Amino acid sequence: MHTRPLPRAHYLVLAGLSILLFTAGYFAALSYRVSNDRSSLASENAILIQQLASSSEAFAIERETASSTIAELSSRLSLTAEELDDIEGDYRKEKNKNDEFEDQIKKISGTVGVLDKLSKTDKELLQKYSKVYFLNENYIPSNIKQIESTYLLPGRKSQSFHGNALPYLEDMIEAAADDDIVLKVVSAYRSFDEQMQLKGAYTQSYGSGANAFSADQGYSEHQLGTTLDLSDPITNGPYLSFKNTEAYTWLQENAHRYGFILSYPENNTFYVFEPWHWRFVGEDLASDLHKDDANFYDWEQRKIDTYLVSIFD
Ligand code: DAL
Ligand code: ZN
Repeated sequence: MHTRPLPRAHYLVLAGLSILLFTAGYFAALSYRVSNDRSSLASENAILIQQLASSSEAFAIERETASSTIAELSSRLSLTAEELDDIEGDYRKEKNKNDEFEDQIKKISGTVGVLDKLSKTDKELLQKYSKVYFLNENYIPSNIKQIESTYLLPGRKSQSFHGNALPYLEDMIEAAADDDIVLKVVSAYRSFDEQMQLKGAYTQSYGSGANAFSADQGYSEHQLGTTLDLSDPITNGPYLSFKNTEAYTWLQENAHRYGFILSYPENNTFYVFEPWHWRFVGEDLASDLHKDDANFYDWEQRKIDTYLVSIFD
């Protein structure tokens, strides 16, 4: 059977419909894709926002932790500073105590040193004798040594002197020699008995007149071992003419430097003027007396005693 062909208008309508359907499909597919892309972007965005939020939160937590750590450290630091202040205060107190203690130890050891020296130094060495004080027959110097014969007046018997004062005597005689002054020893240490015999001999010759120039036994400075009679070879003995010699002038000017003083100067109240009779009292006392232009017997015993500790220094 034969089918009749469709009219031409129908073909046109069919073609138009096909184009319309295709276009609609294309746009629908495009729209679907765009919509898909948008939704995936949105979800990515949400994830990012969430990550940001959680990062911010973590940062906030960390910041809080850090700030509390800082606060704690800072409080610990201020506590440590206070503690340091306390420790420094304690240290200073301890140091002051130690310093005081050290001072006390020094004072005590100084005192012990002084007492030790005094215990080893005869207090008689600075006593004023000469008719006032008395040395009993048992007193002998703690240390006695023979004087070298070159220091003696020629032809005189051997003499002894206090061992601690002997170097001062030798220095003085040597210093005088350096100044062309010849000093010689006439008489030095005399025991109680020797003084008694000497005084007895003088009394036989001069009667009571001997009291003007010779001490009774027990009252002579010679018994100390630190006193001696000096002369020069021209004067050749303990004579008043010695006062006119260069040797005597030298002694007046220099003897104090070696610790010696003149016991009986002119117009003293004990004996005649004895320019030959010199006593060792130590450099300090001799120099201070010289500075004051004072005589040993003019000073109070209490004042003189303060020099005992340094007599052989
Ligand atoms: N010539 C002095 C005073 C004495 O004998 O000790
Ligand atoms: Zn004498």
